[in-house]
Amino acid sequence: MGDCQWHITVTRGILMYQKRPGIFMADWWDANGRRHRKQFSNAQEARQHEHRETALAHSKRASRELKLARTSSTHTKTQEPNTPTVAPAKGKLGVMIPGMGAVATTFVAGVEAVRKGLASPIGSLTQMGTIRLGKRTEGRSPKIKEFVPLAGLNDLVFTGWDIFEDDMYAAARNAGVLERDLLDNVKDRLSSIKPLKAVFDHNYVKKIDGPNVKKGKNKLDLAEQLRQDIRDFRKSSGADRLITIWCASTESFIEPTAAHQSLKSLEKAMKENDESIAPSMVYAYASLMEGVPFANGAPNLTLDIPAMLELAREREIPICGKDFKTGQTLMKTVLAPAFKARLLGLSGWYSTNILGNRDGEVLDDPGSFKTKEESKLGALEHILQPGLYPELYGNIFHKVRINYYPPRGDNKEGWDNIDIFGWLGYPMQIKVDFLCRDSILAAPIVLDLVLFLDLAQRTPDLRKLGIQEWLSFYFKSPMTAPGLYPEHDLFIQLMKLKNTLRHLKGEELITHLGLEYYD
Ligand SMILES: NC(=O)c1ccc[n+]([C@@H]2O[C@H](COP(=O)([O-])OP(=O)(O)OC[C@H]3O[C@@H](n4cnc5c(N)ncnc54)[C@H](O)[C@@H]3O)[C@@H](O)[C@H]2O)c1
Repeated sequence: MGDCQWHITVTRGILMYQKRPGIFMADWWDANGRRHRKQFSNAQEARQHEHRETALAHSKRASRELKLARTSSTHTKTQEPNTPTVAPAKGKLGVMIPGMGAVATTFVAGVEAVRKGLASPIGSLTQMGTIRLGKRTEGRSPKIKEFVPLAGLNDLVFTGWDIFEDDMYAAARNAGVLERDLLDNVKDRLSSIKPLKAVFDHNYVKKIDGPNVKKGKNKLDLAEQLRQDIRDFRKSSGADRLITIWCASTESFIEPTAAHQSLKSLEKAMKENDESIAPSMVYAYASLMEGVPFANGAPNLTLDIPAMLELAREREIPICGKDFKTGQTLMKTVLAPAFKARLLGLSGWYSTNILGNRDGEVLDDPGSFKTKEESKLGALEHILQPGLYPELYGNIFHKVRINYYPPRGDNKEGWDNIDIFGWLGYPMQIKVDFLCRDSILAAPIVLDLVLFLDLAQRTPDLRKLGIQEWLSFYFKSPMTAPGLYPEHDLFIQLMKLKNTLRHLKGEELITHLGLEYYD
């Protein structure tokens, strides 16, 4: 090859180019990913170098791969021979939201703003997150949305139900989370979303009442009306697939009864207007009967009853819940694993909040607060495992308070006083003061859940499970198979989520063992 023809060539990882007449460069990367550069005075010398380096790199890689194969067969789960299939995300995805309040409007307005290039989807794993594939030396970290086939933001269409008649724009103005300028930029789209009449029972949410409510002869009849809403929306929006995500108020605390034990008993109870059937259950039933996945953003019992699990399992419809993990519990599930990892003891955790939005008003009712309290209290015990560490975590005083304080609106303040003890039992304290914005933290969670639930409904291996435990990352009280304790540690939850995605695409799971790097 004459010198003048030789400008840039890339051969087996070696980049060679002529810098200027008589100066040839070779850049290459060794088996550890380090970059090297060498200069030559003629093309032949450079070419010989290329052959030598390529042969060396080949033999190093081959021996490393052999070692890796041996390690994986003994230490890590080997890749399934049949990679699960995922159907492509073709067409529109319809998002149906019971409850067009602060969270729902902040989510929809945010998606519109991102679509228009007015803002960034900060806090959303599906939009901004990456996923490492293979070994650390491989440098493969695509964006999650490029790695798995998710619906695009432009494919989303929305509808909602609410007891108030405000459209999404008016509801967003009332919620007072986003600034008027931003809302006015997306006003057309928001004001076109009018609330469908809700299924509502004042006994379940005592602090509010509204006029936009369905009437029916019994709860089964109300469910039929919701099913008609779903069918109508499917038709009018032209959506290929639908998702329902509960963003309505927290209902009064209830426990499972005989009526919740099977699909048959649930339908009978709905027909008899049994008081143990909460409105959220009527929505979930309607959604699942229409084959639509359901996510529960509130701490309500809704999906956590045998009848719903049966419906989801038998019809292969993804479900997940419950209670979005946003401010204080997010912090709890970050800090508690750190204490346990370092074997620091805990004697007390006092959490209190002030918030002044409608959610805060609803939670001022003891029945609704009890539902929230149960959800917030659960995380610590599961993370700290007092049964395994009685000396460290066997005697914890854990208290959670929520105080309705209107001047703060959606801008909640959450305080935590944490009493820990260390070496020889010496006490220490940690104080957390989180001045957060509730709906700003919740909106990206809603987006991710919508997109991941849709991915699950297009994936037979996930769909058939019903409960999507890999989405625990987003919830205060994650759903699990009956009898299985939930995983609350945020970083275990994230690893579970990402490994599920790797599994779907036939990529090696990441165990963080890492011994092979030192062979
Ligand atoms: N924002 C967060 O950080 C966060 C975190 C975890 C859970 N949540 C839960 O998310 C839900 C929504 O929170 P929010 O701040 O938007 O509350 P919000 O009060 O602003 O909105 C709830 C809306 O639901 C409507 N509603 C009540 N019952 C209904 C029914 N049966 N059918 C249809 N609509 C109904 C209300 O009229 C209201 O407009 C609450 O249950 C809250 O506890 C929020």
